[in-house]
Amino acid sequence: MKHITCIEDLRQLHKRRVPKAFFDYADRGSYTEDTLRANSEDLQQIKFRQRILVDVSKRTLATTILGEPSAMPLILAPVGLLGMQHGDGEIYACRAAQAAGIPFTQSTMSICSIEDIAAAVDKPFWFQLYVMKDRGFIKSLIERAIAAKCSALVLTVDLQVIGQRHQDIKNGMTVPPEWSLSKLIDFATKPAWVSGVLQGKRRTFGNIAGHVKGTEDLTKLSEWTASQFDTSLSWKDIDWIRSIWPGKLILKGILDVEDAELAAKTGAQAIVVSNHGGRQLDGAPSSIEVLPEIVDEVGSKLEIMFDGGIRTGMDIMRALALGAKSCMIGRAYAYGLGAGGQEGVAKHSTSWARSSPPRWACAASTPSPRSTTRCWRFEAIAIPPTGVVPAKAGTHNHSRARFEHGCGPNSSQQSSSVVMGPCFRTSACTHLLESSQGLG
Ligand SMILES: Cc1cc2nc3c(=O)[nH]c(=O)nc-3n(C[C@H](O)[C@H](O)[C@H](O)COP(=O)(O)O)c2cc1C
Repeated sequence: MKHITCIEDLRQLHKRRVPKAFFDYADRGSYTEDTLRANSEDLQQIKFRQRILVDVSKRTLATTILGEPSAMPLILAPVGLLGMQHGDGEIYACRAAQAAGIPFTQSTMSICSIEDIAAAVDKPFWFQLYVMKDRGFIKSLIERAIAAKCSALVLTVDLQVIGQRHQDIKNGMTVPPEWSLSKLIDFATKPAWVSGVLQGKRRTFGNIAGHVKGTEDLTKLSEWTASQFDTSLSWKDIDWIRSIWPGKLILKGILDVEDAELAAKTGAQAIVVSNHGGRQLDGAPSSIEVLPEIVDEVGSKLEIMFDGGIRTGMDIMRALALGAKSCMIGRAYAYGLGAGGQEGVAKHSTSWARSSPPRWACAASTPSPRSTTRCWRFEAIAIPPTGVVPAKAGTHNHSRARFEHGCGPNSSQQSSSVVMGPCFRTSACTHLLESSQGLG
C-alpha cells in the first residue's frame, strides 16, 4: 500500500500479513458485537462545532499522565498475544511507545515476559494484571513487575469470566487450539509472519510459562490459564494487591458510576473507563456514553482514562472533551504491529494521533447563544500546552443529556440536533488564548 493514511489502512495490511485466526482475535468482539460497534458509532455521533479565526499558532499535545510528562494524552493499552501478531511484538510496541514519549502497558497474557521487555527497552513500562486463583503466582507476578521497575500497575477488573468471542471458536482459537488443513495453509501463505514469529524469543505465554508447575507444554499452559480467572475477585482483593504493590495503581474496566465511586475509595490513582473494547459484556454501553457521568462523579478524585473505539485523533479529542485526561488504544496499534512491526506502530498508530488533534484544535470556541444551527455544543476541544481543557466538575451531564434529549442510537433525532446543556461552555476559547501565551 503506497499511502497509509488511516487505521483502516493498517487494518487491511494486518489482515493480509497475519494468519486469520490472529487477525480475527485482535479485530473482533464478544457475542453479537453490539458493544464493539457502539464504541465507534457513539464516538462518531459527537460532532465538533467549528469556529474560525482564533489564534492557534502555539499548540502542543504534551501533557502529564499520573504526574509524569507524556508527549500526548495517549497510552498503548494492554493487548494479549501481541507476540503472535508479530514476533517479539510486545518489545516492538513498547519501543515504539517509548520513542513516541507515551506509556506502554504490557498484558499479563503477553508472549514476551516482563523480564524480556525490561531487558529490551530503556524506560519503565506499565504492567497489566489479571488476578488468578493461584494467589501465590499473582503475588510473584506483582513482585516481578516491581523488580522490572514497572511504573504503574493496571488492574483489569472486567474479566472474571471471559466473554465468548464467536469468531475465535470458529477459527479454532480455543483451549487447546484446534488445528486444521486450512489453518496450516493460511500459515504457509504468510511466510514473513512465520519467520518473524519463529525468530521471536517465545511462542507461549511468557509470564506464565516456567513459573507455574505442571504447565510445560502449550496446551496444558492454555488450559491452566483458562481455568485460573478468578470469579470470586471482589473489591476487598484490591487491599491485598495494594499491600504488595507500592506504586501507582490504575483500575481498568469501569463502566458504571457506582463502581467508579467504589474505585475512588480504594486508593487507586486512576481508572480506565472501558468495556474491554467490546470483548466482554456484550450489550454494555459504549465507553463514551458513560464517560461524562463518571467524570462528573469522580473526576475530582481520580485521574480518568478512557478507551474503546478510538481510531482517529478526533476520537481522542472527543474523549478528552468529555472529561478524560488521557486515552488508551488497543486495536489501533495492534493493527499497526501486524501491518509493520515497530514501524507500523510508531509511524502510523501513534503518529495519526499526533497529527489529527492539533489540526483541529482551532475548532474550539466560546458558546454562541445566537447560534441557530442546532449542532452539538462541543466546545472544549482545545489542546493547550498543559493538556486538554478540563471539564468542570459537576457541570456536564452530557451523557445523560445526550440520551434524554434523544440523541441515542435509537432516537429518531439526528445526532446533530442535540444541545448538550451547559457542560462544555467552559471557556475553551480562553484556554486557547491562554495556551498561546504559554499559560494553559
Ligand atoms: C486483541 C486484544 C487483546 C486484549 N487483551 C487485553 C488484556 O490482555 N488485558 C486487558 O486488560 N485488556 C485487553 N484488551 C482490551 C484493551 O486493553 C482495550 O481495553 C481495548 O482494546 C480498547 O478498545 P479498542 O481496541 O477499540 O481501542 C485487549 C484488546 C484486544 C483488542
